[in-house]
Amino acid sequence: MKDQHICCSAPGKIILFGEHAVVYGYPAIAVAIDRRVYSIVKRSDYNYPVLISENIDAGRAYRMDVTDSIPHEFLSLHKLITMFAKYFSNNDYPYISIKSDLPISSGLGSSAATSVALTKSLAEFYKASFTLEKISAYAFEAEKIQHGMPSGIDNTIATYGGGIYFKQGEIEKLDINLNAILVVADSKVPRSTKKLVEKVRKFKEKNPQIVNPILEKIGEITNEGVEALKTNNINKVGELMTENHNLLEELGVGHHKLSEILSVFTETGAIGGKLTGAGGGGCVVAIFDNLNDAQQAINKLEHQQGIKAFNTYISTKGVTCESVFCDDN
Ligand code: PMV
Repeated sequence: MKDQHICCSAPGKIILFGEHAVVYGYPAIAVAIDRRVYSIVKRSDYNYPVLISENIDAGRAYRMDVTDSIPHEFLSLHKLITMFAKYFSNNDYPYISIKSDLPISSGLGSSAATSVALTKSLAEFYKASFTLEKISAYAFEAEKIQHGMPSGIDNTIATYGGGIYFKQGEIEKLDINLNAILVVADSKVPRSTKKLVEKVRKFKEKNPQIVNPILEKIGEITNEGVEALKTNNINKVGELMTENHNLLEELGVGHHKLSEILSVFTETGAIGGKLTGAGGGGCVVAIFDNLNDAQQAINKLEHQQGIKAFNTYISTKGVTCESVFCDDN
């Protein structure tokens, strides 16, 4: 029998400036990258929804009409599936496979990209017309389950792609004109966005006189970053990234492994670099003005520290349906 598959995808992201401060209403700048998460949906053969993710529990299939036995990483996706079943139910149930080019829990926005891609694919499955705004809003509900009180920057960039200036939920599309190479290295140090945001919150509550000026300074750096990104001022972007990283360390979200990676980047000619996302582990991003230096950094990290790094590009492609095809089995 011919069966329709719907395949939608959404990009991962790098926060170039402003993470953590963005939670308190300061601006942040995020860019979508050329690595994506894919949500492939077909009609389930069972009378309940099913979810498989190649990165979770070795690709085991879970029924999604119950929460007791599912992995905690699936709770936010369960929320989305339930929201669709409630508002758009038909007689069919979705059978969903998640595939990803992004490392999970590393600061590259894999959970938000998953929620956004899943939302779009379920909207297609239920033949519901969803604007980008609505896709982002649904994914935000899922992000709240995963991360507590997120700023909303991750679901926004995964929905729209490109570059955005994000402040208090308001988005401004940024016309970024940066002729530089971005290199991302994954420290593989596990961390939780929820716990790190909580850590900063507690630090702020106990020591507002220390934390508030740091957050304010991060906000200023972000604003300076806008002009530098628009005018291809690579040296300024790099300098601001490094300054932003130092302030994040002062907030208590650094990690010695991240510092070691940054040292390798500096030795190999990076213009600047910082942790990206919640920190405490996860990924580091650096910018280079030539491919040779970038490649040298990637090789050195691999050989000296066994760290996988890759170069990446800003992608203008937000959430999209890659293909809707039919299968003969
Ligand atoms: O590490 P990620 O990709 O979850 O990014 C978190 C960004 C924070 O600013 C720390 C939190 C947020 O909700 O914006």
